[in-house]
Amino acid sequence: MLKKVIIKGRSVVLRPLSLKDAPWFCRWLKDREVTKFLAIYELPPPALKEEIEWIKEARRDKNNLRLAITTTEGKLIGSIGLNKIDRYHRRAEYGIFIGDQRYWGQGYGTEAGKLIIDYGFKKLKLHRIYLRFIAYNIRGQKSYKKIGFKLEGRQRDHTFRDGAWHDEVMMGILKSDILENKKLKIKK
Ligand SMILES: CC(C)(COP(=O)(O)OP(=O)(O)OC[C@H]1O[C@@H](n2cnc3c(N)ncnc32)[C@H](O)[C@@H]1OP(=O)(O)O)[C@@H](O)C(=O)NCCC(=O)NCCS
Repeated sequence: MLKKVIIKGRSVVLRPLSLKDAPWFCRWLKDREVTKFLAIYELPPPALKEEIEWIKEARRDKNNLRLAITTTEGKLIGSIGLNKIDRYHRRAEYGIFIGDQRYWGQGYGTEAGKLIIDYGFKKLKLHRIYLRFIAYNIRGQKSYKKIGFKLEGRQRDHTFRDGAWHDEVMMGILKSDILENKKLKIKK
């Protein structure tokens, strides 16, 4: 198990997943307005029992750091992760979703991203963090760019969603990108 991680920012807190989070995740994973943006998501949505098991497993997992995102008042709004942590290549895959749509577009996702990336480089000693998203996820793209991710490539027609093919876009960030660019440094 990765040690218990709590990361506090100005408007969000990243904390370990709790079994009490499961009903919220189940609700959000039924919302097509949310899941249409999730590159790795597959139907059908999880049942409550499955989600509880997934959280139990996630809390034991050494190779994936999966955390809940809450506001500073403690309201759960989504989850974030550094997945597929590879200790030899010192890399991991970034994933995020804010399930409560009322919290989209207000800077929460970008702040949560900056916090976990800072943790990944400083505490997990990662060298590189990468991600992919479905090309129509413009909100995500803007957020990732603000975090400091750079465009690395595009896979044409990688995903079939809602009766159409969509490209997937790949981005990445190196520890040295943060060191070189003061603007990307986290302000706490
Ligand atoms: C993607 C996501 C994590 C981004 O977090 P967020 O808190 O909404 O993002 P932020 O507010 O920090 O930044 C979003 C940017 O997109 C802009 N934006 C907001 N709504 C937009 C829209 N409908 N179209 C285009 N841009 C939009 C914002 O203005 C902001 O850019 P700016 O600061 O340059 O003005 C969040 O929206 C989310 O979880 N969405 C649903 C699931 C998802 O897409 N997960 C990622 C899968 S790869």
